[in-house]
Amino acid sequence: AIPSEIRCAQDYEVLARRFMAAPTYEYILGGSGRDQTAPANLDAFGQWSVYPRLLRDVSAGNTRVAVGADTFSHPILLAPVAFHKLAHPAGELETARAAHAMQTCMVTSTLASCTLEDIARLAGPQRWFQLYFQHDRVATLELLARAEAAGYRAIVVTLDASIQVASLRALRAGFQMPAECVAANLTSDGPPPAAPAFEPEASRIFQGVMRAAPTWRDLEWLMANSSLPVWVKGVLHPDDALALRAAGVAGIVVSNHGGRSLDGAPASLAVLPAIRDTVGAQYPLLFDGGIRSGTDVFKALALGANAVLVGRLQLYALSVAGALGVAHMIKLLREELEVCMALAGCATPAEIDRGALLRA
Ligand code: FNR
Repeated sequence: AIPSEIRCAQDYEVLARRFMAAPTYEYILGGSGRDQTAPANLDAFGQWSVYPRLLRDVSAGNTRVAVGADTFSHPILLAPVAFHKLAHPAGELETARAAHAMQTCMVTSTLASCTLEDIARLAGPQRWFQLYFQHDRVATLELLARAEAAGYRAIVVTLDASIQVASLRALRAGFQMPAECVAANLTSDGPPPAAPAFEPEASRIFQGVMRAAPTWRDLEWLMANSSLPVWVKGVLHPDDALALRAAGVAGIVVSNHGGRSLDGAPASLAVLPAIRDTVGAQYPLLFDGGIRSGTDVFKALALGANAVLVGRLQLYALSVAGALGVAHMIKLLREELEVCMALAGCATPAEIDRGALLRA
């Protein structure tokens, strides 16, 4: 059942603390390094206010949006988040049920703790797959083929996390990944490439980890080998956005991985307007990072996003009330968005533009 304390979507963040082991909660809440970027994502929304507008008829309003080739009944998607079993014993299967019930597009992570086929059976028709490049191309192709066969409609390749940056906050809390949280889809990945022979000058990062990281050539290879539209997640620089559009990428996700990759990266919201200006009005653009309310969704749409993804709120809601919690969280976000739209005089997402906001 849904606890009576839950009155808004963000209440799940507050209440989840009681439903999870403290180190797990810290791991999810935290970012990377010293946590500069994760809180900045949240603060960025406070730098904008929404103008109320008067006397407009919004009685035919709706929240429908077109995102690439898909049309969604509302602009709130579920971000790829690894290991939902951190928050609930049934993991992604619960989230998938909620996504289906709420007509919400779920983006299944490569690091899901359930198989992508099992998730696909429950997630409803709107499902995308998030891809991490695997160390060998055969393993990457295998994931692609499975996602295609399971009816995922788009591939979102995440490119901002070539190095796993630890969260000091999680380390200090003593977090360790529980045994049940294994990447259920990755049994066939090959070993990482052998470390180069020891040289006094060799760097663990450049000649080590980054040797296996994808480059532009790999992205082109991926697009050539995918029959599904390929999106890129993790874009923060306008020049990257422009180059990705030029490379034929279906759309981009403006994101800093919830502040969990490069600590010190800008808040996602801070770079969103410049990226929209650079890629033009028509290019498909998603946003994530710090969405905790429907008003946050409104602000992201006003600054150029076609729709948003929510990350942490999923796990919080999952831990509090399973599928019902995730569905309720989405319903609350959507209704908060509708309230904001109605009072701001916007009947549809297309009417939400920068003129609706005041820089605080
Ligand atoms: C993530 N994120 C993420 N992104 C991705 O592309 N693949 C993944 O497997 C994961 N895993 C993951 C785990 C956890 C615990 C978190 C919190 C986040 C990033 C995610 O997709 C999204 O970019 C952020 O979570 C958005 O920020 P908010 O909504 O959490 O503030």
